[in-house]
Amino acid sequence: MATLSSVETTAQRAAPSRSARGRRSRDGPPFELIESKLHPPWLRPGIVARTELVERLLAASAGAVVCVVAPPGYGKTTLLAQWAQRRGDRVGWVTVDPHDNDPAVLLTYLAVALDRIAPIDLGIFKLLASPASHVAPTVVPRLAAAMSATTEPVTLILDHVEFLDNRQCLDALQQLAVQLAGGSQLALASRTRPRLPYSRLRSQGRLMEVGAADLAMGLTEARALLKGAEARLTADQASQLHRRTEGWPVGLYLAALALQAAGPAVNRPDAEVGFAGDDRFIVDYLNSVAWFPVNAGHAGKSGGSPADVWCSWRR
Ligand SMILES: Nc1ncnc2c1ncn2[C@@H]1O[C@H](COP(=O)(O)OP(=O)(O)OP(=O)(O)O)[C@@H](O)[C@H]1O
Ligand SMILES: [Mg+2]
Repeated sequence: MATLSSVETTAQRAAPSRSARGRRSRDGPPFELIESKLHPPWLRPGIVARTELVERLLAASAGAVVCVVAPPGYGKTTLLAQWAQRRGDRVGWVTVDPHDNDPAVLLTYLAVALDRIAPIDLGIFKLLASPASHVAPTVVPRLAAAMSATTEPVTLILDHVEFLDNRQCLDALQQLAVQLAGGSQLALASRTRPRLPYSRLRSQGRLMEVGAADLAMGLTEARALLKGAEARLTADQASQLHRRTEGWPVGLYLAALALQAAGPAVNRPDAEVGFAGDDRFIVDYLNSVAWFPVNAGHAGKSGGSPADVWCSWRR
């Protein structure tokens, strides 16, 4: 795990853009950054453009806090990556993981992501590297000020916020959302609703929420996904799958893979296309996202097996 006790030599190796240009040798992050966390994921061919949702995000107000909250596989990351593509070079990205449950680590990633698109005061990195136990109260206002003061607004996207449970980290995000001013935006994607001052942000006209109902694909998008996944289905079969998955993007995709794996017998035009929570691909997926056992809401309601969790989402 990255820790602030690591020394500067590591920081020099891992320092962000400005150190690459030789301007920072001592003020970079005091631990090795994982570079891939700072970029949106690559979008594979066959991914359906979420045009309507991206347009909505592009129209988010100045100072907006965008919350994209839905269970696994609803296409949160894919949507945000498409939005980031359209926004161009004014977007900073951080993929959060469980190791970021330390305010100094989390805020270092935010600072680096921001610094790459709108260079920030190097003093922020010094503060982050200081041994002070409470970096958040000193660093968050500076980050918010830096985001607010940029001549060209920036958007800072944090994906997988559900991994954060450290109180100081959650407080830091909450403060950043509150203190954000000017044209810049903060976007959070999470499987569970992050703790934020929703009413206050809403009353200020600064809250945009995108949920599972928005992310569920319509029939046209579902057909495009199935086509992109090279599932040879009749229009009727595609409609059946759309109905059974209720537009859940990963469900559609896994169903397409399952149909391919089942071979030509199932691919007859008159065949019924099945889809259920205990399909092997679905069970494997739910196991791989490793989310259901820790989510009290779903596990408690359903008894906790992948199939039960899947079914509870559909209710
Ligand atoms: N726009 C899309 N076009 C085609 N497939 C999609 C699309 N969105 C999602 N999918 C399918 O669903 C999968 C999961 O999507 P994504 O990772 O964006 O979901 P997520 O909501 O971020 O899930 P998690 O909570 O696990 O991070 C993708 O790998 C892809 O197979
Ligand atoms: Mg995701």
